[in-house]
Amino acid sequence: MIPEHTTVAVVGGGPAGLLLARLLHLRGVDCVVLESRERAYVEQRQRAGILEQGTVDVLRAAGAGERLDREGLVHHGIELRFDRRSHRIDFPALAAGASVTVYAQTEVVKDLIDLQLAEGPPLLFGAEVVAVEGADTGRPSVRYRSDGRDRVLACEYVVGCDGFHGVVRQSVPEGGLTTYQREYPYSWLGILADVAPSCEELIYAHSPRGFALHSMRSPSVSRLYLQVPNGTDAAAWSDERIWDELDARFAVDGPWRLERGPITAKSVLPMRSFVTEPLRHGRLFLAGDAAHIVPPTGAKGLNLAAADVTVLAAAFAELHDTGSTELLDAYSDTCLRRVWRAEHFSYFMTTTLHTDPDQSPFETRLQIAQLDRIAGSPHAAAELAENYVGLPLTAPVGERAEHTD
Ligand code: FAD
Ligand code: DHB
Repeated sequence: MIPEHTTVAVVGGGPAGLLLARLLHLRGVDCVVLESRERAYVEQRQRAGILEQGTVDVLRAAGAGERLDREGLVHHGIELRFDRRSHRIDFPALAAGASVTVYAQTEVVKDLIDLQLAEGPPLLFGAEVVAVEGADTGRPSVRYRSDGRDRVLACEYVVGCDGFHGVVRQSVPEGGLTTYQREYPYSWLGILADVAPSCEELIYAHSPRGFALHSMRSPSVSRLYLQVPNGTDAAAWSDERIWDELDARFAVDGPWRLERGPITAKSVLPMRSFVTEPLRHGRLFLAGDAAHIVPPTGAKGLNLAAADVTVLAAAFAELHDTGSTELLDAYSDTCLRRVWRAEHFSYFMTTTLHTDPDQSPFETRLQIAQLDRIAGSPHAAAELAENYVGLPLTAPVGERAEHTD
């Protein structure tokens, strides 16, 4: 049955929308998720791979931790490479016992979709939202197209979890939001390869030829990235050229070998920093990529989305249980502090590790001096480690869900 009214209309069934819906469901708050794409597309979209401890905790509390606990790879550090040297950042030693988990966004999304289709709330695929109306009034509504028909979902609140290009943010009248942004003069060429990772932990490499990252998806699938010029066509890079370039950028004095294997996916992603303020307009809220974007170096995008919706779900639950809008009113400020911290960290990691096409030799020496400082000082390394593993979540909505449901 097609719902015509709900409490919270969630636009977008990516990680932010799906996790929000699950947390709301656990707290007894009625919602509907509208997703423009079909299920198979949403489940295959290759994106992030690193979950902070706080994200893992909230997924577990949401009941989506079973496969994550079985298949996720827990990592206690990363490797920095620069100047043909390697340096390990040890998370437990530097950041109070913390770790991160390698578990692909595709798998998080599959787990949340399975739960939602089994237990609710309604999740409509192929439902493209075209407009949000009445966010300034007490009776907002969402217009969308589904099965070739125009439909309307009346609601009390609308949450835009519809990503950077979504319509919810764009439906806010001129002057309602302020945006801050920066584009970068390079992109990433990302590949998936059917080959066991050549390392136990992720490698972030600064090299005279540009940045490279060795990540992974499982013990038999590697995920690697190369800095490339903006406008690069992924098809223009042969498999051999990609492996040769990766080899050159990861080169280090001492034993190391990059294993090659069949490349199963190639894509180019642009890099951008972007923040909208506030994360609210009347009864309309923004969460995840709809509200903010970070360049991917440091893997914060998905984790920020999870943090936003954890805070927002707690706020809607408070309203539902007590009638108080205090947490809802604080949502934007609560999240923006964390967002700006992650913006700074992602900017720092990006500009320290990549080579700007206009970069002078002087600036390259500064980058190496900064990396050398991180390698040589536990204080500098702790700053990186604490940011990488993520700030603790302030609103443990999942924990309360366990007690109250
Ligand atoms: P999204 O995942 O973008 O989900 C938004 C959803 O809304 C989509 O399913 C979309 O189909 C739907 N939607 C859009 N418009 C409408 C509409 N009008 N009506 C209904 N539904 C709509 N982060 C990392 O940490 N590491 C990475 O390697 C990494 N790689 C990335 C690669 C790419 C190409 C992109 C775009 C992002 C990447 N990110 C990465 C960032 C990370 O994937 C995002 O931060 C994360 O997906 C945010 O989740 P979200 O739910 O807010 O947005
Ligand atoms: C991955 C992506 C990142 O941006 C990052 O910093 C680490 C890992 C990944 O896709 O695995």
